[in-house]
Parts: sequence; C-alpha cells; structure tokens
Amino acid sequence: MEIIKYPSQILRKKAEDIRDIRDSKIQSLIPDMVSTMKKNKGIGLAAPQVGRSIRLIVVNLKHEPLVICNPKILWFSRKEEIGEEGCLSLPGVYGQVARSFKIKMEGQDKFGKKVKFKAEGLFARVLQHEVDHLDGVLIIDKFVRKH
Ligand code: CO
Repeated sequence: MEIIKYPSQILRKKAEDIRDIRDSKIQSLIPDMVSTMKKNKGIGLAAPQVGRSIRLIVVNLKHEPLVICNPKILWFSRKEEIGEEGCLSLPGVYGQVARSFKIKMEGQDKFGKKVKFKAEGLFARVLQHEVDHLDGVLIIDKFVRKH
C-alpha cells in the first residue's frame, strides 16, 4: 500500500471506531498494513497513513507484529521521557517528543478479542505515536526543545 504523506487531510481526521473486526475488508487490510510497515522499515503504522480513517494500528517491535483495533490508552504515567521520533508520513522529519514512560492500553486483537496490557519505554512511545495518528495528531505538533 502507498503511505499517505503530510499534508494530506486524512492525517488530520479523527478516525472511526471499527465495529466489525471480522469484516473481510478489515481482515485483508491488517496483513496489508503489516507488510507495508515492514517494507518501509517502520516500527508502527496507523490506518489513516494508508488512507483508511479507522482505529487500527500495527506495531513492529516484538517477535510478532502487534495488531490493535480500537486502541485506547487507559492510563499515562506522569513520568515522561523525551526521545527522537520520525514518521513514515513525514519523510526526513525528525524531532524530540515527550511521551509518558509507561502506559496501560486496552483494545481488541484481529479476532475482536479484548486485550489489555502495559507498555513502557520505546514500546509505549510507539503506541502513543500511533494512537495520536487516530486523533489527527502528528509529531510536528509535539516537537520540544531538549533542555
Ligand atoms: Co507516524
């Protein structure tokens, strides 16, 4: 799939919840997103970045690609960390972004089963970055100067 680049308007829209995860369109979109993420050497990808304004993210940091439908961050640690981020929709743009060090996430897997887990460090950072995409938020909105 083609990665949608800034300043496309779809990247600024709030994405819709997925009602039927078992729908064949969603089931074929998931592996397409995973392969697009891998092909572009991304560690995460959100559906709006491939032109679908729905709440679906994929992350490539663990042994297996992680797929989360309707992800929701239930808790953000007060402790934050500043780290460099880039984005496949903003080629060549890198900057420092402050993110919670730990989060608690809830969502559904590709079968529609509820999942709930904690994440920290880079994993938590990527999840926060991808959920931002679902709310139309990009890293350029969040760049900070490192003190
Ligand atoms: Co991004």
